[in-house]
Amino acid sequence: MTGVLARRALAEAAALLASAGVEEPAREARLLLRLVAGPRSSLAVPGEADALPGDVRVRFEEAVARRQAREPFAHIAGEKEFYGLTFAVGPAVLIPRPETERLVDEALAFVGGGAAEVVDMGTGSGCIAVAVAVRAPGARLWAVDLSGAALEVCAANAARHGVADRVVTIPGDLWRAGLPAELEGRLDAVVSNPPYVTAAEWAVLAPEVRLYEPRRALVPEVAEPYAPLAEGARQWLRPGGLLACEVGAGRAEGVAEVLRRAGFRDVRSLPDLAGVPRVVRGVRA
Ligand SMILES: C[S@@+](CC[C@H](N)C(=O)[O-])C[C@H]1O[C@@H](n2cnc3c(N)ncnc32)[C@H](O)[C@@H]1O
Repeated sequence: MTGVLARRALAEAAALLASAGVEEPAREARLLLRLVAGPRSSLAVPGEADALPGDVRVRFEEAVARRQAREPFAHIAGEKEFYGLTFAVGPAVLIPRPETERLVDEALAFVGGGAAEVVDMGTGSGCIAVAVAVRAPGARLWAVDLSGAALEVCAANAARHGVADRVVTIPGDLWRAGLPAELEGRLDAVVSNPPYVTAAEWAVLAPEVRLYEPRRALVPEVAEPYAPLAEGARQWLRPGGLLACEVGAGRAEGVAEVLRRAGFRDVRSLPDLAGVPRVVRGVRA
């Protein structure tokens, strides 16, 4: 196995990934090689004569085969960057998306550095809850999810970033999950990236999503959860408390109306980095 040139292995891998329909196959091949060779290796940008050590070649072939089957890169790596932090991810949770960082920005701008009680409804990997806890040292996060397996990932991520004492996982269905009764009417903020993909949208998503990410994390089981989210938030937030939710492209105006009907004021939508209205926020009247 030794003696194979890294450059040739990369070219072969890129061809395999391209034939499997992977976008940017040359870049992905380089990232996979860097992953299996180690972050300090120069092999991902090899010189003419760099040979691939046998153990690296075996790991590279395994990783390329997984990616050829359209397994997400984040699952092969076992982690994903979000808000400047590295999160463990796996089949139990949605892989954190960059556009969700907008929700963290909004929560942090509202919460500031002082004491705050914040609910992350549908926490998944805990990326939002943990990022807020790390950046807002006075905040306590209540991380709710239907999925016990997701909450295990969330707890591991909270421990990884040293905020396990301020990120409390709560299993259950939205506001029925069993938050401590004494928080009712006293929450400072509620953030949520709920499932909002329609069944029709799901059917045409990339194989990386359809085959490997939990459908329940993306497609609501009954109706879109914004109305129950807002009704519960009105009951659990203190007056002036923040509700901020991520929304699908083209849905911001409809969700803003749901918040207004539920009694929120200063309702507005905020764009993500691509300029798409991505977060709808309002404060409890
Ligand atoms: C779109 S994912 C968001 C995960 C994570 N917050 C993020 O932004 O990457 C939605 C999450 O909500 C959870 N979920 C779906 N329906 C729920 C419900 N009725 N109550 C609580 N959690 C729910 C799913 O299990 C999933 O983890």
